[in-house]
Amino acid sequence: MTRRCTSIDSAQGPTVVIDGRECILFCSNNYLNLANHPAIRQAAIQSVEKYGWGSAASRLISGTMRPHVEAENAWAEFFGKESALLFGSGWGANQSVLTTLPGKGDIVLMDRMDHASIIDAVKDSQASFHTYRRDNLDRLEHFLANPLYRCKYIVTESVFSMDGDTADLKTLVELKNKYNAILIVDEAHSVGCMGNRGAGLAEELGLLDQIDMVIAPLGKGPACGGAIVAAPKVATDYLVNKARPFIFTTAPSPVLADVSLAALNLIWNESHRRICLKQNADTLRKQLADSGLNIGQSTTHIIPVIIGSAAQSVQAAQQLKQQGYYLTAIRPPTVPAGTERLRISVQSDHTPTQIQGLCRALAEILSPENKK
Ligand SMILES: Cc1ncc(COP(=O)(O)O)c(C=O)c1O
Repeated sequence: MTRRCTSIDSAQGPTVVIDGRECILFCSNNYLNLANHPAIRQAAIQSVEKYGWGSAASRLISGTMRPHVEAENAWAEFFGKESALLFGSGWGANQSVLTTLPGKGDIVLMDRMDHASIIDAVKDSQASFHTYRRDNLDRLEHFLANPLYRCKYIVTESVFSMDGDTADLKTLVELKNKYNAILIVDEAHSVGCMGNRGAGLAEELGLLDQIDMVIAPLGKGPACGGAIVAAPKVATDYLVNKARPFIFTTAPSPVLADVSLAALNLIWNESHRRICLKQNADTLRKQLADSGLNIGQSTTHIIPVIIGSAAQSVQAAQQLKQQGYYLTAIRPPTVPAGTERLRISVQSDHTPTQIQGLCRALAEILSPENKK
């Protein structure tokens, strides 16, 4: 079935307007409801009044503006790293890091469910690569133990975007220390949402200082777009000089940089959003599991309902839309064949009634009698 984009005619929030009708949104990554937060709007307005919109050049020409520098300093400090670089997207950040740092004679080891931006970037690099399953780290260790490789990289997401489970960062840190490897963690779905200050899963586990490089796409929890790479200065200096997707592209808007600072401020100061998100996620997972639905291994605010058929997943999404709930069916190649699903992502501002309503609708639509 051909895919097409659905247009949303309102600001992003727990509800949105589609085709003139209000729907309860359960598939956005606006986990903390910052996308339309008054402080974010205000930061954007103030920034545009001071700097206009465009950066009008690449970073190494005349595109580096005060907000870029301030954002990079603040995010570096937040992640406890020496240095940070701001990119226009998470895709660009992963392209930059993974096509530039690993080279000939190196090996990159990736979780087999890592995001496409990681996998494609590693394939575009000069390094050898292998994938491993996160429920069998022996294969990872097997490659790490091979003395032939010059430099070994482990690249993982922290919260997996389609399954909502988490990487075993503790074991990955032990292995990277044992085999002198470099550990890169993409915290796309945990920045703002996990950890005492909202720095992500590594912070939650007390391991942030053990992660060599944090990739933090900012389009999800922080909801402003762009991405941060936080790393030792020697690595960011190398990227500035060698990473083609950093060098040969127009710098992100200074407004994006300023808005990312406002989001960082909210992540610090509005920790109740993390608490509400966790409560909502726990409630939703429990209600779905109690209804007998297959939510895989999810332990977070991303909750798959695994159906195992593309046609049935699409049909379920259509039926939910008729009832006023908007979420999308996820099919191959995004997930392996046989694990087609609805991917639910919950927000901090969803109400108990909205959550309960979705669970009831899903249980009814996916009940065995209904599928006959
Ligand atoms: C784990 C992960 N990394 C990177 C990206 C790409 O980030 P962006 O949307 O900013 O390009 C995504 C986006 O879905 C993601 O889930």
